[in-house]
Amino acid sequence: MVTYALNLSDISPQYLQGFFVGWPNHPNPEKHLQILRNSYRTWIAKDGNQVVGFINAISDGMYSAYIPLLEVLPSHQRLGIGSKLIQLMLNELNGMYSIDVCCDQKILKLYLRNGFSGCSGAIIRRYQNQ
Ligand SMILES: CC(C)(COP(=O)(O)OP(=O)(O)OC[C@H]1O[C@@H](n2cnc3c(N)ncnc32)[C@H](O)[C@@H]1OP(=O)(O)O)[C@@H](O)C(=O)NCCC(=O)NCCS
Repeated sequence: MVTYALNLSDISPQYLQGFFVGWPNHPNPEKHLQILRNSYRTWIAKDGNQVVGFINAISDGMYSAYIPLLEVLPSHQRLGIGSKLIQLMLNELNGMYSIDVCCDQKILKLYLRNGFSGCSGAIIRRYQNQ
């Protein structure tokens, strides 16, 4: 059974295996955990002790928030876990003015379905820092 948690205190890097699928360089589980712990809010989805999905938000804590990462392990995709994580995060950010995310075009539908509007944006990605 998949459960959801906001608290990362019982998560260790060994439970964060298999993420960043397709990234040529990506954070190792230790760095991944640090990213999640340093975020303003992080929700995780767990199947037993294994983390199977996560979403994090960075924020000024009152007005604006940005969602840098959302991922569900391939074995658990298309079961509604990504949408549930988005909804849990939106609820957590209730009261904020802006909640932004940048995503590939193919994922946009998922966010539109979950209450976001489309917009244009501009980004920098320094792949050497991945
Ligand atoms: C995007 C992602 C988090 C969705 O998680 P999920 O648990 O499968 O999502 P849900 O089951 O709630 O919703 C499924 C919807 O997500 C979208 N989606 C899921 N996987 C997709 C894929 N591989 N390609 C395109 N769209 C996808 C579709 O809109 C899908 O709806 P559909 O099945 O009716 O086509 C997951 O596919 C993932 O981790 N992808 C790789 C990382 C990524 O792209 N993250 C987004 C960063 S902004």
